[in-house]
Amino acid sequence: MNPKSNKTFITACGADVSAAADFLSQGEVVAIPTETVYGLACNAFDEQAVGEVFRLKNRPFFDPLIVHVASMERVMDVVEELPDVARKLMDAFWPGPLTLLLPKKSTVPDMVTSGLGTVAVRMPSHPLTQELLNALDFPLAAPSANPFGYVSPTTSGHVLGHFDGQIPYVLDGGACRVGIESTIVGFTDGDAIVYRLGGISLESLNEVVSGCELELMQSSIPSAPGMLKSHYAPRTPLTIQSLEEFKSGHHMGSTAFISFKDAFEMDGVDVFVLSPLSDPSEAARNLFKVMRQVDSGNYDRIVAEKLPEIGLCRAINDRLFRASTHLE
Ligand code: TXA
Ligand code: MG
Repeated sequence: MNPKSNKTFITACGADVSAAADFLSQGEVVAIPTETVYGLACNAFDEQAVGEVFRLKNRPFFDPLIVHVASMERVMDVVEELPDVARKLMDAFWPGPLTLLLPKKSTVPDMVTSGLGTVAVRMPSHPLTQELLNALDFPLAAPSANPFGYVSPTTSGHVLGHFDGQIPYVLDGGACRVGIESTIVGFTDGDAIVYRLGGISLESLNEVVSGCELELMQSSIPSAPGMLKSHYAPRTPLTIQSLEEFKSGHHMGSTAFISFKDAFEMDGVDVFVLSPLSDPSEAARNLFKVMRQVDSGNYDRIVAEKLPEIGLCRAINDRLFRASTHLE
C-alpha cells in the first residue's frame, strides 16, 4: 500500500484487454506492455488520473509524459500540426519505438506536457496494447512503470515488484521485445533533433531523414525537461570500463561485471553476459533485466562494459552512463 494514497487494490495481472479498458475508462491507472518497456497508463485527457500517475511514480511535475495513440490518424487528436519530416518518420517507424515531439492541441492537459507547447506522441507496436488503444476513445499517457529514477521494467513481474497493491490491473504482454525505451525526436525549423536514443538507432533514422542531429541532454538541472543526466540507476554503484581495462584491474570486494558478449572467470567477480550471440538487439532486450538482477545480488559494485558507439549499442551506452556514478 502507498502511504500517501487512500486507495489500495488487490492487483490483478493477466491478458484481459477488456478488463484493462474498463479500469482505464473509470479513471484508474493500469500498467501496459509495450515493445520497449512497460508503461503506467491512464486516460491522457483525465487530469486527475494523470496526477495519480505522477504521484505513484514519485515523478516531479516538470518531467512530461508520452501520449500513446492507436493509429497515425488519431495523432491529430492531440497534435495541432504535423511537419513533413514527422510524417516521413511515422511512415517509416510506426508502430514502433519512436516518440515524436509535436505542437500540442489545447485539449491535452498542461500537466501531461509539464506546460510545454509540444506533446510527446508514439504509436506502440505491442499487439495487446494496440488492441487496448483501439478499444478506447481516448489516448493513453504513460511513463515507464518504475519509480522515478530507477531502472525501467521489462516484465509484468518487475511492475508488480513496484506497484502491487497500488493499481488495479497489470496487462501482461510477456517480456518486452526491444527492452529499452523509445527514441525521442523533436523538430526545429524542419530539422529532426534526437533528444533520447532508444529502440530506433541514429543510423536507421538517418536512412529516412538525413542529417538528424543528436542533442542528448547532459544536465542534472535540465532547462528543458527530458533527459536527466542521472537516471535508469540501480542502487549499487555502477561504473563503466572497457573489457581490457576491467580484466587488467584489481577489484576490491564483490563485483558484478556486465559484459556485452564474453563470459569469463575472475576471482571475486560474477560475470553477466548481455548477448552471448553478440547481437545488439539481444543486449538491449536483456539490459534492464540484468541491471535489476545484479542490483538485487548484494554486490559491492557493478562494472559495465562500454560498447562500441554504433547502432543500438549507442543507446545502451547512454543508459549505462546515466545509471553510473559518474559525477554527483
Ligand atoms: O518507450 C517509451 O518511451 C516508454 C513506453 C512506456 O512508451 N515510455 C517512457 O516514458 O520511457 P518516460 O516517461 O519514462 O520517458 C519519457 C521521456 C522523459 O524523459 C520526458 O522528459 C520526455 O520523454 N518528454 C515527454 N514529453 C516531452 C516534451 N514535450 N518535450 C521534451 N521531452 C519530453
Ligand atoms: Mg522512464
